[in-house]
Amino acid sequence: AAKAILSLILLCPLMVSCSGVQSVLDPAGREAAGVATLFFAMLIGGVVIWVGVVAVLFYAARKKNAHSEAGAGRLILWGGAVMPCIILGALLSYAMWLMPNVRPFFSGGGEGLRQIDVTGEQYWWRVRYLDPDGSVAFETANEIRMPVGERVAFQLTSPDVIHSFWIPVLGGKMDMIPGRRNVLTLEGDKPGSYRGVCAEFCGTSHALMGFTVEVMEKPAYDAWLASRRSASGGGDAEGLALFLKHGCSACHAISGTEARGVIGPDLTAFGERGSVGAGTLGNTTADIARFLRDPAGIKPGVRMPHYNMLPEAETDRIAQYLKGLR
Ligand code: CUA
Repeated sequence: AAKAILSLILLCPLMVSCSGVQSVLDPAGREAAGVATLFFAMLIGGVVIWVGVVAVLFYAARKKNAHSEAGAGRLILWGGAVMPCIILGALLSYAMWLMPNVRPFFSGGGEGLRQIDVTGEQYWWRVRYLDPDGSVAFETANEIRMPVGERVAFQLTSPDVIHSFWIPVLGGKMDMIPGRRNVLTLEGDKPGSYRGVCAEFCGTSHALMGFTVEVMEKPAYDAWLASRRSASGGGDAEGLALFLKHGCSACHAISGTEARGVIGPDLTAFGERGSVGAGTLGNTTADIARFLRDPAGIKPGVRMPHYNMLPEAETDRIAQYLKGLR
């Protein structure tokens, strides 16, 4: 039995996933690094207490009926009061000292920083890049790009129910509340592609509400900004005609075309995105066509109606057009 318990204990670290695009224990930003450090400090403190308690337990079990009154008193005083006070006090002080590093967003509304406005909607993310004067430079959805080593202020709100904006590798999280504007500032210090999630139950497809975060080198980021400012919806004219004819433009906008809907995600440069349906499917022509035919089957509760009645060739053509958007 002892061997089995020992091997279980040794296996534990293998069961904990410490890396990945969505792990708080694999930080790529200062806030997340603080949280990960605090976690490991708490873990070590917890292990010390646990070992102490188990040792006392074994001691008490073995020496049944052999304690002196004074010995028992000392054990309770040192093991039950002094040791936990020292360890818990040390952990508390450490956490209090670390807290300002982990939560710098208390320091204000992110004035003077690059501003990105994000709204959580059932079940996707509207992302607007703001110019320094506060006007919207352009809009996109379900992906956020930010330059490495620069603090960005996220203006967070929601038009429907409460969502929560969380990029585990960068830090956070913060609620998005209808009628309120919350500001979360984050900084990515390691270029890479990460994943964000909704961290507040918001309906049937809450678990299917993801987004990607690209932390980019500054020159690549500036080039991307410039390309997005001038993106147009050209490309496959027949696909665009079908898109407009079937009313997609009532909900979706594509800059440079007549499509100016504001209900659903802006689809400008859609072909560049990593996913369809806020992280639910990949972004291939087949995935897009599948989503068009049966959005609610893939994402229960989604507001987009299905286009199952269209001839297959037409849905495929619209999918091709969307995939071609740059
Ligand atoms: Cu949005 Cu959960």
